[in-house]
Amino acid sequence: MALIELTGISKVYDLGEVQVEALKDATLTIDRGEYVALVGPSGSGKSTLMNTLGCLDRPTSGSYRLDGHEVVTMTLDQRARLRNRHIGFVFQNFNLLPRTTAVENVELPLLYAGGIPARERRRRAIEMLRLVGLGERLDHHPGQLSGGQQQRVAIARALVNEPSILMGDEPTGNLDSKTSREVIALFRRLNEEQQITVILVTHDHQVARHARRAILLRDGRIFADTTDINAALQSLHHTAEESPAEVPPAAEPSVAEPSVAEPSVAEPSAAEPSAAEPLADPQADSPVEPPVS
Ligand SMILES: Nc1ncnc2c1ncn2[C@@H]1O[C@H](COP(=O)(O)OP(=O)(O)OP(=O)(O)O)[C@@H](O)[C@H]1O
Ligand SMILES: [Mg+2]
Repeated sequence: MALIELTGISKVYDLGEVQVEALKDATLTIDRGEYVALVGPSGSGKSTLMNTLGCLDRPTSGSYRLDGHEVVTMTLDQRARLRNRHIGFVFQNFNLLPRTTAVENVELPLLYAGGIPARERRRRAIEMLRLVGLGERLDHHPGQLSGGQQQRVAIARALVNEPSILMGDEPTGNLDSKTSREVIALFRRLNEEQQITVILVTHDHQVARHARRAILLRDGRIFADTTDINAALQSLHHTAEESPAEVPPAAEPSVAEPSVAEPSVAEPSAAEPSAAEPLADPQADSPVEPPVS
């Protein structure tokens, strides 16, 4: 059974006068351990798909099975529980609480989960921060961290509940290219060493090339689904009228856009906090504006 099975998913935003078809008949599957990039022009439906995959948004029609559970017919609460169990989210603007230390930010999802003693929450948060190479920055506030470090705190927070899927909507969108490479190396490492399924929306070709599969969206449709990332990226430059002929069909497609509007705390979900060695710590120390949450 595939981890993610999307069948005939459509999403229509009804604005009264007009109806916007943000997703049209999207069908794809994603297996455990995959690393998928969702790419496409602005407005093509990437975030809509990610939000659907992230159980943040309910599609207008179609079926979405996550780990065998039909998501589309679930109540809000059921979806939230499923999401907390399986999915960790990372947002473009980090979504960290500004007056809260790194370790406290990472502990939050455990606090929300309930039933985990304070000492255990702290232990797991520290373990995750070490995993992302921030063991020396536990008590720093977001404003005292570089952009890449803030995003790594957000990744640690996304992983602390041990989710099997890490999703990001433009997770490197606010980072410079060097910092973005460091963050992307972290995603890759989590995918390879912890077998976390990674699904990212990105405009950045350098980021997309780290994935092993690209799903292209255009006008709300899955236009190509391929393991040939370079061909996929090239086809992005073609006009909408052109056929995706150059893009070889890939393994099963699967995409989902996590919606961006989550409240201040990104969805926690944890990867195995295997006390792995810390990831290379990017020494970006330049202070960055605290993210707006
Ligand atoms: N809440 C909403 N209400 C109405 N229309 C929406 C809403 N959210 C998105 N849309 C429309 O749905 C389409 C797809 O939007 P989406 O945000 O998924 O695009 P995207 O590929 O993520 O774009 P970008 O790269 O700019 O983030 C767009 O035409 C957008 O205007
Ligand atoms: Mg978007």
